[in-house]
Amino acid sequence: MSCAKYEFSDALLCHDDELEGRRIAFILYLVPPWDGSLGGTLDLYSVDEYCQPKQIVKSLTPSWNTLVFFEVSPVSFHQVSEVLSEEKSRLSISGWFHGPSLARPPAYFEPPVPRSPHVPQDHEVLCEWINPTYLDVGHQIQIQEEFEEQSEILLKDFLQPEKFAEVCEALEKGGVKWSSRGPPNKRFYERAEESTLPDVLRDCMRLFRSEALFLLLSNFTGLRLHFLAPSEEGGMEDTAEGEAASASDSTDEGTSGSSFEPQDSQAASSSSSRRSSERTDPEPEEQEAEKGPSIPTCQGELRRWKTGHYTLIHDNGKTEFALDLILYCGCEGWEPEYGGFTSYIAKGEDEELLTVNPENNSLALVYRDRETLKFVKHINHRSLEQKKTFPNRTGFWDFSFVYYE
Ligand SMILES: *[C@@H]1O[C@H](CO)[C@@H](O)[C@H](O)[C@H]1NC(C)=O
Ligand SMILES: *[C@@H]1O[C@H](CO)[C@@H](O)[C@H](O)[C@H]1NC(C)=O
Ligand SMILES: *[C@@H]1O[C@H](CO)[C@@H](O)[C@H](O)[C@H]1NC(C)=O
Repeated sequence: MSCAKYEFSDALLCHDDELEGRRIAFILYLVPPWDGSLGGTLDLYSVDEYCQPKQIVKSLTPSWNTLVFFEVSPVSFHQVSEVLSEEKSRLSISGWFHGPSLARPPAYFEPPVPRSPHVPQDHEVLCEWINPTYLDVGHQIQIQEEFEEQSEILLKDFLQPEKFAEVCEALEKGGVKWSSRGPPNKRFYERAEESTLPDVLRDCMRLFRSEALFLLLSNFTGLRLHFLAPSEEGGMEDTAEGEAASASDSTDEGTSGSSFEPQDSQAASSSSSRRSSERTDPEPEEQEAEKGPSIPTCQGELRRWKTGHYTLIHDNGKTEFALDLILYCGCEGWEPEYGGFTSYIAKGEDEELLTVNPENNSLALVYRDRETLKFVKHINHRSLEQKKTFPNRTGFWDFSFVYYE
């Protein structure tokens, strides 16, 4: 048993409670007079054909001296919604009755996100879009030195101011079709449907996929994202222990022995460690990824972030070496306490390695290894304060890309 106190802006996002031997979960509420408008409801999810949570089908409002219990199962997805009261605390005692574990359906793996090689587009596109300071080769060398040291760098004022303003204007104008991304035990945010993008946003997406940008990123990072980029024996790889780790991990795909137990109140299913050790078949795509020298690829999306959005660390994701790129737009008045920042943590450890805060026209580059996990912090209701200073703003946008050598 444990006691939990949720206060304003606290939430426990979608998870299933499953862990060896847990059979019945119970909660005894010790709350002052409460109603749904104060948040803090216990929300229960339905599941789809893969036993993935789909939508909230029941919301229980806590009340004093009320006991709630449910069977822990592969489909017992639930959340504690954000507490919206600034005065009242949601106190409860909760725990589990244990017993022999139930048989469990095989773990579900999401279909891999398609990756593509660069699109042909030459250097001019960089001169057109990017702050000239970043095209200066001397500056690139400095950036690379810092990046190789830190595995991350923040490049402020990355786009030319006029281009950045055009991008923001297009985003603010609306007209882009957004679709919600789930499932809720893994993520909740909106992604732009690319076919609906106005020209300037489509061009911006194309910039991040361009051959010229793959070359520029190679210069910034020392990674080999283009065959023309110098291959740096003993460069990046050494400092990041790249080769060694990928060689020794190649049989288990970097997920075995994952002793990662989510500690953060935001972390997803605590069944992580069990699931990944039970796992037998590597994803088809992972097998492919291990074959010989590969062509550098990327995947990316334009995302919209608002109150209630988040991503979670989850067990069935694969971890591999990758370069993350995020460019933020429309972050006027955004404060870290609203959430929405990207947090990197080491597998099996509680501690944050790095936090990337949304900041106008800032480009974040982060190289992660197989032991690094990331999530976007839940955006809480404090974020509604942004409107007080910027009446036309709710949340922000980012261009989020991942590059693979
Ligand atoms: C962010 O960028 C937009 C577009 O250039 C600009 O209108 C806005 O003032 C910027 N905000 C901040 C805080 O720099
Ligand atoms: C990358 O650096 C090389 C010099 O090492 C330079 O010739 C090239 O123009 C740079 N590429 C980009 C895209 O800036
Ligand atoms: C907010 O939007 C309205 C209508 O689109 C516009 O008239 C107003 O000037 C905007 N306010 C700010 C602070 O940008």
